[in-house]
Amino acid sequence: MDARLARVQYTAPFATESFADSLAVGLRKSPKEIASKFFYDAEGSRLFDLICELPEYYQTRTETALLQRHAPEIAALMGKDAEIVEFGAGSLRKVRILLDAARPQAYTPLDISGDYLADVVRALATDYPALTVRPLVADFTLPMEIAALPQNPRRAGFFPGSTIGNFRPDAALALLRRMRGALNGGGLLIGIDLVKDPVLLHAAYNDAAGVTARFNKNLLARANREFGADFDLDAFAHYAPYNVNLQRIEMYLVSLKRQTVSFGGAGFSFAQGEALYTEDSHKYTIESFREMAAKAGFAPRAVWTDEDRLFSMHWLESR
Ligand code: AVI
Repeated sequence: MDARLARVQYTAPFATESFADSLAVGLRKSPKEIASKFFYDAEGSRLFDLICELPEYYQTRTETALLQRHAPEIAALMGKDAEIVEFGAGSLRKVRILLDAARPQAYTPLDISGDYLADVVRALATDYPALTVRPLVADFTLPMEIAALPQNPRRAGFFPGSTIGNFRPDAALALLRRMRGALNGGGLLIGIDLVKDPVLLHAAYNDAAGVTARFNKNLLARANREFGADFDLDAFAHYAPYNVNLQRIEMYLVSLKRQTVSFGGAGFSFAQGEALYTEDSHKYTIESFREMAAKAGFAPRAVWTDEDRLFSMHWLESR
C-alpha cells in the first residue's frame, strides 16, 4: 500500500439496502417502483457519465461552468482549511474545481460504492499530496453521522448535480435536514436544476442516441447479472414524460406485453402496459428551492445561475 493510501481513513460501512430485496418489495407494490439509487452499479455509473456528455443534457456542463466562473467567491464562503464533505462522490472534475480554489485541508467523499471511492483516493493522491482524503462507504439516503477529524475543521458540504431532485419533496426536505446535521454548523453548496421549457426537459431525458433508455433499462440488466433475474430487455420500453403540474420528469419502464419475470424463487407478473416507476427528477424555481432550504434550517445566502437560467448553484448556511 502506498503511503498516501495508508493515510486514508476508512470507517466501518454504514447501513445499506440490498437491490434484490428492494426490487422484490417494489415489484409487489401497485404501482410497481424501485428507488433510483439502484441505477448506479459500475455499468449504470458508466452510462450516467455518458448522459452527462449528451448535447441534450445541459445540466453537467452548465453546473461545471458555474463552478468555474464563481470558484473564488465560493472558496471565500467555504473559508480556508475547511473539510469538504461530498454527498455521493460523483464527477471528480467538479470537486477538483473546489479543491483548487478553496484549498481545504480534508475531503470526505461519501458513496455507496467502496470501489469507486478507492478510485477517487488514488486519483487525488498524486495531485493533492497535502490533502487528507477520508472516503466513507455510506448511503446518504439513510441516517448518517460523520466523526470529527482531529483538527475539527469547519465543514462545507457539496451536493452537486441536482441529485436532490431525485427525492420527493418530503424526502428532499428530510435529506437536507440530515445533511445540515452532518455538517455540524457548516454550509452547503448544492446544485439545483430549474423549472424551464418542458420541451428542453423532455429532450434531456429522451436523448436521440438512446443513452438514457439504456441507463433506465440497466436496472433490469443489473438484476439479471446480479441475481439471475430473467428480464427480457426488449419487452420493456423507456418512458420519461415531464409532469408539468408536479414539475418533475418521471421515468418508467413499461412492459410491452403480459409477462412474468422470475428471481429469488418468486414470479412477478406484469400486465401489458404496466409500468415500473424508476425515477423522479424534480425541478425547482430559485424561490421554491430557497423556501425548502429555509424549512430545513438553512439560511439561503448566495445563488448563481447561467444566462439562460437552466441551472442554479446555492450556498446555504446552517442557522
Ligand atoms: C443524478 N440525477 C440528478 C440525474 C437526473 O437528471 O435526475 C439522473 C438521470 N436520470 C436520467 N438522466 C439523468
